[in-house]
Amino acid sequence: MSVRRLTSDQPESFAFTPENLDWANAQLKKFPEGKEASAVIPLLWRAQEQHGGWLPEPAMRVVADMLNMAYIRVLEIATFYTMFNLSPVGTHFVQLCGTTPCWLRGADDLKEVCRRVIGEPGELSEDGQLSWIEVECLGACVNAPMVQINDDYYEDLDAGTFEQILHKLRNGEEVAVGPQVDRQLSAPQTGLTTLTGVTNGHAPDMSFDEAPEGGGSEEQAGNAERPQALDGARAQGADDLKRISGVGAKIEEILNGLGIYHYDQIAQWSEANINWVDDHLKFKGRILREDWCSQAETLAEGGQTEFAENYDDDAKDDG
Ligand code: FES
Repeated sequence: MSVRRLTSDQPESFAFTPENLDWANAQLKKFPEGKEASAVIPLLWRAQEQHGGWLPEPAMRVVADMLNMAYIRVLEIATFYTMFNLSPVGTHFVQLCGTTPCWLRGADDLKEVCRRVIGEPGELSEDGQLSWIEVECLGACVNAPMVQINDDYYEDLDAGTFEQILHKLRNGEEVAVGPQVDRQLSAPQTGLTTLTGVTNGHAPDMSFDEAPEGGGSEEQAGNAERPQALDGARAQGADDLKRISGVGAKIEEILNGLGIYHYDQIAQWSEANINWVDDHLKFKGRILREDWCSQAETLAEGGQTEFAENYDDDAKDDG
């Protein structure tokens, strides 16, 4: 690991906000008396978040005093763990994975984009909006190459999509996180190749009656009709289509682009509509397999599915 030094340009002091101080004191109570030092990483992390994404030296002293630790011990921790930034970072801080799977899949191209759009690693862009560093594996190798920007992962990137993301973030535009190609999470990019008889929540169909992936395309081509589209979401706002198992952020964006905003629209799709959307998304039977229409019908009626319930719980936890 390379030497990590504190930036010479340090603020004179640091103090937790009252809310963060309450939070920090609550953390201390989680540990037995005399073992409060165990809270050092969460406290440093909270200090970093409060300080715009980097950890100034006065904050390390504040944390050390709170935990009754020698300053040098806290400095050792802050300089050892690369999660702590020791100099200012951009509003959008890019951590680019350069480890083997990402490297094999084009991480060097992404680095080139960083150099061109932002500057050298660790440098702030001129407008202070962006900075980047290279990091080791971020555990999303199946969606290589990928980067983390602040708290979000952007995956299945190439130079073009990545540069677009940087420009959008810089301009304050919304960007869908996760895979930047048409696949859900880390599912095979060309559609499922195993357990193709599994439908959401039901036992696998082992009858092998279903046409293989890609089969029946001629019939499908002759029986495909675009579903009715809306110019925009209705007054109450678009439904969260990600509550349907099989629809991720990227697919939701595409569906919205096709004029599909609401559960009841999907619930009404005919077989020909499903074929059309399937073809359009290159999903090859996935809508039927995952039973989007039944899920959408339940949700349109105000009901709940197991997937939506878990999704809602996760959203609450994140919130
Ligand atoms: S190698 Fe890049 S996320 Fe694992």
